[in-house]
Amino acid sequence: RVQTCALPIYGKSIMKPIQVGLLGIGTVGSGVFTVLSRNQEEIQRRAGRGIRIHTVADLNTQRAQELVKGNAQVVNDARQVIQNPEIDIVVELIGGYGIAKDLVMEAIAAGKHVVTANKALLAVHGNEIFKAAHAKGVMVAFEAAVAGGIPIIKALREGLSANRIEWIAGIINGTTNFILSEMRDKGLDFNTVLKEAQRLGYAEADPTFDIEGTDAAHKATIMSAIAFGVPMQFDKAHVEGITKLSATDIRYAEQLGYRIKLLGITKKTPSGIELRVHPTLVPAKRLLANVEGAMNAVQVFGDAVGTTLYYGKGAGSEPTASAVIADLVDVTRLQTADPENRVPHLAFQPDALQNTPILPMAEVTTSYYLRLAVADQAGVLADITRILAAHGVSIDALLQKEAAEGESQTDLVILTHETKEKNMLAALQEMQDLKTVIGEIVKIRLENQIGRAHV
Ligand code: NDP
Ligand code: HSE
Repeated sequence: RVQTCALPIYGKSIMKPIQVGLLGIGTVGSGVFTVLSRNQEEIQRRAGRGIRIHTVADLNTQRAQELVKGNAQVVNDARQVIQNPEIDIVVELIGGYGIAKDLVMEAIAAGKHVVTANKALLAVHGNEIFKAAHAKGVMVAFEAAVAGGIPIIKALREGLSANRIEWIAGIINGTTNFILSEMRDKGLDFNTVLKEAQRLGYAEADPTFDIEGTDAAHKATIMSAIAFGVPMQFDKAHVEGITKLSATDIRYAEQLGYRIKLLGITKKTPSGIELRVHPTLVPAKRLLANVEGAMNAVQVFGDAVGTTLYYGKGAGSEPTASAVIADLVDVTRLQTADPENRVPHLAFQPDALQNTPILPMAEVTTSYYLRLAVADQAGVLADITRILAAHGVSIDALLQKEAAEGESQTDLVILTHETKEKNMLAALQEMQDLKTVIGEIVKIRLENQIGRAHV
């Protein structure tokens, strides 16, 4: 066994460990405790001093005691942690924007630095939280809030700071990506896979946040703010989840050379910022289309660097703990720095944030997949192509199934070139009114450019 010892090259004095209060020791909190204990020596060598969990607050004190095994105090009242003068950093891992918001605001008011994985809280109340933190001169670090273990916040905020970021597109919800992958590969049904995602600790406490796209929209909101130097504007995000996706469309997409992924997209355009989450057809050969299970991937396009891609585990106990602990190391290193010289919460200096508008969905430009159930009779296709042309929507590909024996209707699948959403909606309204169109037309957005490695 190789013997190693820390070399005191710069004659650094030995400092007492930084004291951490952990609020919530569930999936992520327990990962933080485990990884911090397992890797404490390595972490100390990086941080310059030890990082010690002083107290854990959780409603279930018995489970918390079993997890910490006497290595930290356990209390059931989070306010005991916040009010404890020995604690330097409060880690909020409770979730939601109820009690978690009060506790974070109280911790800031008490002069504590905060680390959180709570994207819902930051996307909805981030502006207020960062303002309070700035006034108090404390840090609020949130690497784990977007894409779990992938250091995307660090990349956007620091690594890419030379760039004008043009767009970000990502698979940023592990639960829905896991559901889509398992449904496609194993033919499992939606609810079975969702239960498994919950068992594996990927899903939010309320899984509708995952499947309705809200969680991905929280994350896209945070990335949008950091990338473009604007305040958090979750209320203006367009949010669609995967609950209305059918196996039929997943199959047709495959036949046409695409995969359907729940993408979070934010783009800077001359007229404003696009901020949207929705199921999206992505060409099957693109890297993003091949991100499976609970893995996440975020692609960023910057004017200088071009395209960069970040891939890794987007959820789960230890992957998320990895990001929380990275924040603890950062805060430990920077806590003695002059607050004005720290990395700003939203990457841009607070007085340099801009009011660039978030575009309404009607103004967003994208391509489309349409599926229409139509009567199997002459002239149907002509009517549809005429309506699309009248609204300036051009067709890229078309798939018409032969009607099955004895059936009087068939499926028509159309892929369009890029158009404004408002043109597509107007065309859809007219097509929907045709007597030969049966049932509701399915519309899924399609992105041909996003995901290209060489853009
Ligand atoms: P869990 O539900 O597993 O853990 C939350 C813990 O907080 C539970 O132990 C809960 O106790 C406890 N708790 C609830 N209310 C209080 C309170 N008032 N005081 C003290 N403790 C309390 O959630 P996760 O660990 O999965 O998620 C935590 C945060 O991390 C959330 O914001 C989530 O969005 C985020 N996140 C989660 C990821 C994941 O993969 N799970 C990935 C990235 C971010 P009890 O169980 O008794 O209610
Ligand atoms: N519920 C989230 C997901 C956890 O599935 O991605 C990670 O943020």
